Amino acid sequence: MEHIALAVIGGTGVYKLAQLDDVSSHQVETRYGTPSGPIRVGTLLGQRVAFLARHGEGHSLPPHKINYRANLAALQQIGATRVLALNTVGGITDAFGPRVLACPDQLIDYTWGRISTLCEEPGSEVLHVDFGHPYTPMLRSKVLAAAKVTGVRLQDGGCYGATQGPRLETNAEIARMRRDGCDLVGMTGMPEASLARELGLDYACLAIVANWAAGCGDGDEITMAEVLANVDAASAGLPELIGELARG
Ligand code: HPA
Repeated sequence: MEHIALAVIGGTGVYKLAQLDDVSSHQVETRYGTPSGPIRVGTLLGQRVAFLARHGEGHSLPPHKINYRANLAALQQIGATRVLALNTVGGITDAFGPRVLACPDQLIDYTWGRISTLCEEPGSEVLHVDFGHPYTPMLRSKVLAAAKVTGVRLQDGGCYGATQGPRLETNAEIARMRRDGCDLVGMTGMPEASLARELGLDYACLAIVANWAAGCGDGDEITMAEVLANVDAASAGLPELIGELARG
């Protein structure tokens, strides 16, 4: 099996990795089914990096239909042990406005009805994995170090609230999330993070703030055009950061 220095899962607005060269495509089948699309493996700034578009390359899968288990198992099958999850999010608290990049250290799960464990199959052993620190602390610190080296501004910490979607939240839901301690809101952070833990993968989140969450900031309507433009603008430094992270 080839050594993959880093696997990257792209979220809304990130359907491929710029600067990934010599790309080969892998259609991987897993015991949990088929991942969202082909895994693209290539060389990024000298490092072997795998990339998978979480929603499919044509953004055709809503958050609750994503086969998170197959996505992570497929990345593991091709040789990845470390996963950087890119998550497009809304910002709730002041430090997390549009175009901010953040590396959260906590999460709260508000999703429901998703297959959220590997322990569903008859006869599989039930695991109660430790999840006090939902993101692998060592990988998080490497993400922060890579941002520093490459001069990419990155907010250290924050709590990611995972909502069901695909609709955006009501103002009252976001107000509740703020009271709960959430700084960021997105729809795909869970069960991905806990499945990664069950699989024994190192996993960290790099959240890209695309908009103020409902009722935050100026309270304007959230449009997909705004979301995509902000993700694009905020992603400029990502190839260098990811290349540096893969190196370390
Ligand atoms: N809420 C939930 N998910 C999101 C948002 C939001 O405001 N923006 C981007 N993903």
